[in-house]
Amino acid sequence: MKEVVLAETAGFCFGVKRAVDTVYNEIEKGGKVYTYGPIIHNAEVVADLAEKGVSVIQTMEELKGISEGTIIIRSHGVSEEVYNNIKARGLKIIDATCPYVLKIHKIVRENSNLGHHIVIIGNKKHPEVEGIIGWCKNNYTVVESAEEAETLDLSRNKKICIVSQTTFNYKNFQDLVEIISKKGYDIIVLNTICNATEERQTEARKLALESDAMVVIGDLHSSNTRKLYEISKSECENTYYIQTLRDLDLEELQSFRSVGITAGASTPNNIIKEVHTACQK
Ligand code: F3S
Repeated sequence: MKEVVLAETAGFCFGVKRAVDTVYNEIEKGGKVYTYGPIIHNAEVVADLAEKGVSVIQTMEELKGISEGTIIIRSHGVSEEVYNNIKARGLKIIDATCPYVLKIHKIVRENSNLGHHIVIIGNKKHPEVEGIIGWCKNNYTVVESAEEAETLDLSRNKKICIVSQTTFNYKNFQDLVEIISKKGYDIIVLNTICNATEERQTEARKLALESDAMVVIGDLHSSNTRKLYEISKSECENTYYIQTLRDLDLEELQSFRSVGITAGASTPNNIIKEVHTACQK
């Protein structure tokens, strides 16, 4: 019989849980509810909310057509401009931005005000990074790869403040900071990777090393799930990235003696449970 181990850190992190609970609580109160962007990167949860009448606003342009209701800001946060736009329309805002992300907004705003140049280590297309950029007063550079770090060429007259997207891979962050450090800038480094991410990544690596096969559960658009997949795959060749049980070939899994399971921060518990139970059979 194969051994199946479920990572203790699998599933919703505290910031995502808080944001999702906020939406469900607001639905109970009645009235029209919107989220600014999908509340989490999970198609199943977003579909359930849509069924309950929650609409997703994707752009500031779409805001223009709305004159009443509540807008919930998701855990990724938004730029200052988006906040101001929502307020200007007289809509009720419930801010479910994760406190760890709010901390980054505060850091970059304060450092920008001091005239420092902000370097954000992260993916510039990720909504969290787009939100952080919106607090930087146009004084920023986003760095995602070693190549971008190597070619970074900033004024030496300014202090550089380096922060990270909360879900960035810790080792890659260290590597990129090391490359930038060698350039001789006056830098302040603030590791803003959230503990939930670090713990999840460390546990995934350990589990992948100990297992013959790894199952990583999460939405294909979830950046933190993708990172878990990459880490697991680097330690365990037989790593499967699935969104739900439907994507898993249980027969293939039977050939392995030990299977590890982990899941991204936006993967609901019921999906994890279903996969875990099926793998144990
Ligand atoms: Fe917040 Fe960390 Fe989750 S930043 S949203 S607790 S992954």
